[in-house]
Amino acid sequence: MKQIVKIPSKQYFDKAYKILIDGDVNLRNAKYDYYGLNAKIFSSQQLASLMEKNGLTKRYKISSGTSDRFAFKGYINQVITDLKKGIYYRFYSLSKGDLSTRKAISLMENFKFFKKNRYTEEDVCMTEGSTGGISMIIEYFKNTNPADEILIISPSYYLYKFTAEYYNLKYVELVSLDKIKPFMFNLELFKKSITPKTKLIILNRPNNPTGEIYPEEIVRKILMIAKKNDALVLVDELFFELILNKESATEVDAIASKIDVLDRIITVKGYSKNKNLAAFRIGYVLSKNRKLMASLARIAEQRQCFSSAQNYTGLICLDSFIQSVGFYTKQNQSLTKAIAILKQKFSFSQIIFEKSEKELKNLYLEYKKYFNNKIRYYSDTYDMVLDLFGKEVEMILPKTCAYNTLIKLKGLENVNFFDFCFNLFLTTGIESQIGPCFAFDQFTWQKNPAFGFWLRISYSRDQEMFKEAIIRLIEFKKIYLENKDKFLKTNIIL
Ligand SMILES: Cc1ncc(COP(=O)(O)O)c(C=O)c1O
Repeated sequence: MKQIVKIPSKQYFDKAYKILIDGDVNLRNAKYDYYGLNAKIFSSQQLASLMEKNGLTKRYKISSGTSDRFAFKGYINQVITDLKKGIYYRFYSLSKGDLSTRKAISLMENFKFFKKNRYTEEDVCMTEGSTGGISMIIEYFKNTNPADEILIISPSYYLYKFTAEYYNLKYVELVSLDKIKPFMFNLELFKKSITPKTKLIILNRPNNPTGEIYPEEIVRKILMIAKKNDALVLVDELFFELILNKESATEVDAIASKIDVLDRIITVKGYSKNKNLAAFRIGYVLSKNRKLMASLARIAEQRQCFSSAQNYTGLICLDSFIQSVGFYTKQNQSLTKAIAILKQKFSFSQIIFEKSEKELKNLYLEYKKYFNNKIRYYSDTYDMVLDLFGKEVEMILPKTCAYNTLIKLKGLENVNFFDFCFNLFLTTGIESQIGPCFAFDQFTWQKNPAFGFWLRISYSRDQEMFKEAIIRLIEFKKIYLENKDKFLKTNIIL
């Protein structure tokens, strides 16, 4: 087969190195962690221009945490209609967000409690994506517990530790290194990591990047330990709707409600991943903790940056309605009856009130079709990626949640991870994210054989892109290992 990957010239690598140190990446003066440095490299204009001159115009985002799929047309149409009518955008919202939005979300979120209405609109705060929620919660923790610790169940989304560092808070990353089930939650280790100062535990469920869902029994134990230690639990359920086998999982707040610890947990959700609307920045915090909710409202108020969710009131009410229909029909209600009952319940929302039952039914059915197709596409992409990597895979984490997984690639034990990924990028245009983006640092991942070279694959991305990228990655790996001297050696270990 014709070789696609060619080793670039020494001159090209020298120029890239100069940009890395003194150009717009500016390593000489700037300080980065592993994740931050790579994010900077992938957005460097100077590297982009150098690569383009070398014929590399295409980027392969194999690890990037967004989807290539479009959002549901019904939602986009709703936003367009609302914008044209000018219903929402002219006004400021309340500091916790528009009332009908919060009402709709609390109604939808209550269905999992089976007729016990746990949440009201007072327990919902709209935020700038779930990022806004996470950063406000950690800011709250900084105000209330400046000398206490955060325990992050890892590997996990970088933002938790990034924000903890920003607020100068002490945090511990908990990673289980079991050889057979790497990264899967270990209760004994968890218990050992708790100190009297652990007052915030962060649980990302399903986990990004491992996809771990954490069984109900484990969640109960985490919650009971949190209660005993008088700690709050921040539950990031951004990916929950994307769990492939939804019957196998119950939301943490539903579990907490059963054991009477609902006031201990703070749930964060958003529309970036499950609805493919990352740039709309819609997120929300759900909590029965009054002190926390009052603080979030104050933080939003003093920052004067209320959530832009106000613009999407129609979309959010419609989505809450559609999700609620899903719950109702699961409980053996006929679809027609579910629509009729819920139209009444959601009558506070102008856009639901205005739509006929027929229109709402069609929207529900279209959404269901759209969503099932999307999930099938993601699931097929996981299988396809695994197939394309073939013998290169030493281990892969199971397909549990449509989006991310970690794959351990063979033969990279003795390479400098940064150099491998930087050369991969400069040679092929592939943007990769590996272990140290999600816990600890590069040094720890490299020196400990139980870690190794774990690559995040976001199987929400385009299948055609993966077909091209994985051929290039495999070819690159072979050429790199056989010709290390011809590639750039920075010896950076972050
Ligand atoms: C686990 C997790 N939580 C939160 C976020 C933040 O997402 P957003 O602010 O778009 O809601 C991300 C983004 O990748 C994520 O992976």
